[in-house]
Amino acid sequence: MAGVKFPVHSQTQASRGTWEFGQFTLPALTRGWVTGQIPQPLRQTMDYQAKIARNIASIPRSGIRDFFELVQGRDDVISLGVGEPDFATPWHIREAAIYSLEKGQTTYTSNLGLLSLRKSIAKYVGGFFDVEYDAASEILVTVGVSEAIDIALRALLNPGDEVIYHEPCYVSYSPSIVMAHAVPVPVVTTKEHGFSLKPEAVAAAITPKTRVIMLNFPTNPTGACAAREDLEGIAKLAIEHDLIVMTDEIYSELRYDDERHLSIAALPGMRERTILLHGFSKAFAMTGFRLGYACAPQPIIEAMMKIHQYAMLCAPIMSQNAAIEALENGTPAMLEMRQSYHQRRDFLVRRLNEIGLECHLPGGAFYVFPDIRSTGLTSKEFAFKLLEQESVACVPGGAFGPSGEGFLRCCYATAFEDIRTATDRIERFVGRL
Ligand SMILES: Cc1ncc(COP(=O)(O)O)c(C=O)c1O
Repeated sequence: MAGVKFPVHSQTQASRGTWEFGQFTLPALTRGWVTGQIPQPLRQTMDYQAKIARNIASIPRSGIRDFFELVQGRDDVISLGVGEPDFATPWHIREAAIYSLEKGQTTYTSNLGLLSLRKSIAKYVGGFFDVEYDAASEILVTVGVSEAIDIALRALLNPGDEVIYHEPCYVSYSPSIVMAHAVPVPVVTTKEHGFSLKPEAVAAAITPKTRVIMLNFPTNPTGACAAREDLEGIAKLAIEHDLIVMTDEIYSELRYDDERHLSIAALPGMRERTILLHGFSKAFAMTGFRLGYACAPQPIIEAMMKIHQYAMLCAPIMSQNAAIEALENGTPAMLEMRQSYHQRRDFLVRRLNEIGLECHLPGGAFYVFPDIRSTGLTSKEFAFKLLEQESVACVPGGAFGPSGEGFLRCCYATAFEDIRTATDRIERFVGRL
C-alpha cells in the first residue's frame, strides 16, 4: 500500500509554545483525512502552554526518554541504558498469564487487587522483609511501583508540604512530588560515602513543613545500599518528627553482598509510619506486566485506594495471576538472574576502573555509576559523544538530579558479551580524549 506523509508535532517545540512538524509515513488508508502538509485542526493558533497546568508545565521530560529517542531504530547500538532486565519473564510466570486468558479471566478485579494475590504478597513480604501485613486491608495492588509512588504521594500531601529524598535518584521522584503539589527537598549523596544517606544530612533538611521521607535502597542509579545504623538514624528522625517514610524496595532482591536485606519498615516503631512499595518489574523480569504493590497501615491504604479506584480501577487480572506464580514459585529463577547480574557487575566495575573511570562497587540493583569528571566532559557530552562515536548508550548522570552530574549510569542487565564489547568501545573512546 502506498504511503502518504503525515505530520506529527515535535514535543520539544510544543513545550516552547510553538509548533513544528516532522514527518512519518502512514498507509494510504488515512489519505482522505490528510489534505496537504498540515491537517486543518492542527493549524489553529492557541497558546497551548497557557492551557497546561502550571505544575505540569514546570516539570521536565525524563532525560532518559529524551536520550533514548536518539537510540530508537539503531541496530548497531549496544545499550547500557534503559533499566530493564535482558531476561524474558521466566516461562512458568508467562504461562500463568496465558492460562489466565485461557480460562477467560479477563475481568476487573477488586480495586485492591485479587485477594489471592494479596495473600501471596503478605506471605512473601512477611518472609522477605520480616514485616507482617493484613492481606484484606493493608495491601493495595498497583500498576507498577510507578503508580504506587504517585498515589502514595497524592494521598499524603497538601500543597506546600515538603518531601525529603536522596539524590541522585530515580527520575520520577521529584516530578511525582511536584505533581502532588508538594515541594521536593533533595539530600545530596556522594561517591565519597558510597552514595549512602546519612541521618545527619536528613536531619539538616527537616523543616516544620516536612511530611515524608522517601528512600530507595538499593538505589537507582547508584546501586547504593543502606547500612543498618543509617536506617536506624533515619527511623529515629521519622519518629521524633512524626513523619511518614515511603520506601521503594523495587531492587531489594538484587543485592550482591551477603547481607540480608533490611527495610526501614522492619525497624522498631516503623511499620506504623512506613509505606513499603514493591513490585515485579526488576527481580522477576516483569516490566511489561506493569504490576506493583503498596503495604501500609489500613487508613493509608484506604486513602491510596480511593485515588487508585477512580484513576485506575484495578491492575490487569492476567498480570495479577502471573504475579501469584512469581511469588509462589519464582524465587529459583530470580536467584539465577541475580547470579548472572552479580558476575556482570564485577566485570563491568573492574573494566571501568581499568579504563580510568573511577567506579565504586555498588551493593545492589543493576547499575554502576562511574565518575567521568576526569575526562573534562559533562555527563551529557560524554554520553552523546560515546553514542555518536562508538554506538554505546549510557544515561548521563545529570538525568538523576543535579548531583548526578559528572557521572554516567550504565545498566548491566545486558548480555555479557555486549558488556564486554561496550567496555572495549568505552576504552577506545576515553583513550582518544
Ligand atoms: C527506583 C525505581 N522505582 C520504581 C520504578 C518503576 O517500577 P515499575 O516498573 O514497577 O513501575 C523504577 C524503574 O526503573 C525504579 O528504578
